[in-house]
Amino acid sequence: RIAYVNGRYVPHSEAGIHIEDRGYQFADGVYEVCEIARGNIMDMTRHLDRLGRSLSELRIAWPMERKALQAVIREVVRRNRVRNGLVYLQVTRGVAKRDHIFPSADTPPSIVITAKRTDPAASAARAATGIKVITVPENRWERVDIKSIGLLPNVLARQQAKEEGAQEAWFIDPDGTVKEGAATNAWIVTKDGVLVTRPAESGILRGITRTTIFDVAKNLGLKIEERGFSVDEARQAKEVFMTAATTVVMPIVAIDGESVANGHPGTTTLSLREAFFDIAE
Ligand code: PDD
Repeated sequence: RIAYVNGRYVPHSEAGIHIEDRGYQFADGVYEVCEIARGNIMDMTRHLDRLGRSLSELRIAWPMERKALQAVIREVVRRNRVRNGLVYLQVTRGVAKRDHIFPSADTPPSIVITAKRTDPAASAARAATGIKVITVPENRWERVDIKSIGLLPNVLARQQAKEEGAQEAWFIDPDGTVKEGAATNAWIVTKDGVLVTRPAESGILRGITRTTIFDVAKNLGLKIEERGFSVDEARQAKEVFMTAATTVVMPIVAIDGESVANGHPGTTTLSLREAFFDIAE
């Protein structure tokens, strides 16, 4: 495997970052994960738009011009011969003597890009049975709209999910409404077949897959309501699913150990998943 690190393509096993990188010391950086399906990098424009937004919210400079960055991403995918997989891209405020204050403006941001293969058959198998989520109290900072590499609450939530026999954890507000998963957006399908997902302006990451599902749903003639929903509503819903670049559309069949949606992936969920892959053709 080959990684791109600050201007060089290096063997993945030898790729390294300085110990005083601000990403390492302060989680002072942002990232993107893009899906590669049948050789296409999905939604690259939207991912780069969101990267630009995250960078500007943190006042970190682009590590290179957007066009060049796009070319490097494609080159990393090519060199790793990935047809189905993921691209990981991380930008930090760079290397500087440890100090909470931003380093001088001439400090170059650090950039790392990697690509790896994933197994579409394994993902399809999981989608055929569905996955389980647990719920955990929201304990993240208020700027989760920034795709920051500071992911400790997400790490702890996912680990807890694993230890409890589930695959994802949902962050829940004190009033019982669902925010999002540790690394996925949350959705339900009502008894009337309406898709419901929380507005992106309200304490969640605006997922790229979430945005693309809006397009997919429109094509399928499905109605979407952008509003909050509670864990109770999700328990009563016809279908429950999550979206992310890593899992695309993944049915959820249990919440906190109790079956939802009759314990089976729903037809709407699966048709969204299928239609999503069709745009990758
Ligand atoms: N996570 N919400 C959170 C908190 C996320 O970390 C992610 C993505 C999403 C879904 O966004 P998208 O559809 O753009 O992947 C929602 C990535 C995949 C990760 O951390 O691995």
